[in-house]
Amino acid sequence: MFKAPRGTSDLLPDKQKFSRHIESIASQLSSLYGYSRVDTPTFEDSSLFVRSVGEGTDIVDKEMYSFDDRGGDSMTLRPEGTASICRAYLEHGMHNFAQPVRMHYFCSVFRYERPQAGRYREHHQFGIEAIGDPDPSIDVEIIKFAHDLITGIGLNQINLFINSIGDSNCRPAYVESLKKYYETYRDELCKDCLTRIDRNPLRLLDCKNEECSQLSIEAPKSINYLCEECESHWESVLDYLKELEIPYTIDHKLVRGLDYYTKTVFEIQPKDVGGQSTILGGGRYDALIEQIGGRAVPAMGFATGIERLTLNLIKESVDIPDIKSPKYLVINVGDKARIRAIKIADQIREKGTGAMVANGTRGLRGQMRQANSLNVPFVIIIGESELERNELVVKDMATAEQNICSINDFMSAL
Ligand code: HAM
Repeated sequence: MFKAPRGTSDLLPDKQKFSRHIESIASQLSSLYGYSRVDTPTFEDSSLFVRSVGEGTDIVDKEMYSFDDRGGDSMTLRPEGTASICRAYLEHGMHNFAQPVRMHYFCSVFRYERPQAGRYREHHQFGIEAIGDPDPSIDVEIIKFAHDLITGIGLNQINLFINSIGDSNCRPAYVESLKKYYETYRDELCKDCLTRIDRNPLRLLDCKNEECSQLSIEAPKSINYLCEECESHWESVLDYLKELEIPYTIDHKLVRGLDYYTKTVFEIQPKDVGGQSTILGGGRYDALIEQIGGRAVPAMGFATGIERLTLNLIKESVDIPDIKSPKYLVINVGDKARIRAIKIADQIREKGTGAMVANGTRGLRGQMRQANSLNVPFVIIIGESELERNELVVKDMATAEQNICSINDFMSAL
């Protein structure tokens, strides 16, 4: 028996309502905020992600699904959406559009991670990016969008964590002092952190190992090392957040798992945190477009995982309306009635109302059971005698009330 590959899953009809609900709120907010939809390919040149997400990150070092295609080019199934959007911005000369260019996307994302609840090898993201504006008001617009999305789908018990990790001006001095701090605790660090000291010191701060995590509490804080420009950007972001009354917590350990961030970084977590707690993350990435071959263009965005949101909606028992079944199931008894049922269902659908034909090889009872399990509000019953009189029976499944009427009258009433 074949099974879905480890860390992937089939999304069956009974779970679809959660994703559809999230997608619907995300799409509504995208049009309210003016973020247009963009779709990019599922795979890209591997070097796009190496240059943007960064060597030394878990994603690039351990998690990418990369392969040489038949032409010998190295391709990678996207491990995130931002790099592709930036590639598209450059490729299509979007710097000529009115700036910032506001875009949103829904995409599948592939990371070879150790699967557990909320962590999969294929997951689905909704994300937004605003490219071409350095102003702190954009940071706050994006954080507010994120907040509206999470509360809009029904998750209200959340924390917003925020930090600034500076830019190429001020970060080197910060990273130096971070390295110095951790050097003194070399003996206590986990194996991964020993390599992080040299390869990617910022990531020392978000190591999940208990001892490393204890050390990070006293580690130097990036906001104490900001240059004048980053400092004033940071102050404005906090001022605007206060003005918009968005509650936040400054988290000095928040550095994010991708290397392209500058200045503002943020994450949203449910208050009642479990293993895979972050449901949404993002930040400013003013140097990314330059890193992949363009001129310097400032940008900011976030992404959220649909599966993690779904887990939280279920955990919080958020009431999501079921996806409606078609209004009518056309039950038919006898060969002639079966053919007529197809036509009746077709006529109902032409009027814009949902209709399905029941499995006529089953008897009346079997078809009624089908109606119950499909949860249709009404059934139409036709047998040989109804056909002779050009009539049908309509049964309301909630009240069990039945009415006989002529097929013509029924269709005109629709
Ligand atoms: P990220 O934090 O790596 O950021 O992923 C965004 C969200 O995707 C996470 O908050 C989480 O909900 C979900 N997620 C990540 N990995 C997994 C996984 N293995 N299984 C299930 N869900 C997962 C980014 O991808 C950035 N591109 C966000 C961004 C956009 N920054 C700026 N613009």
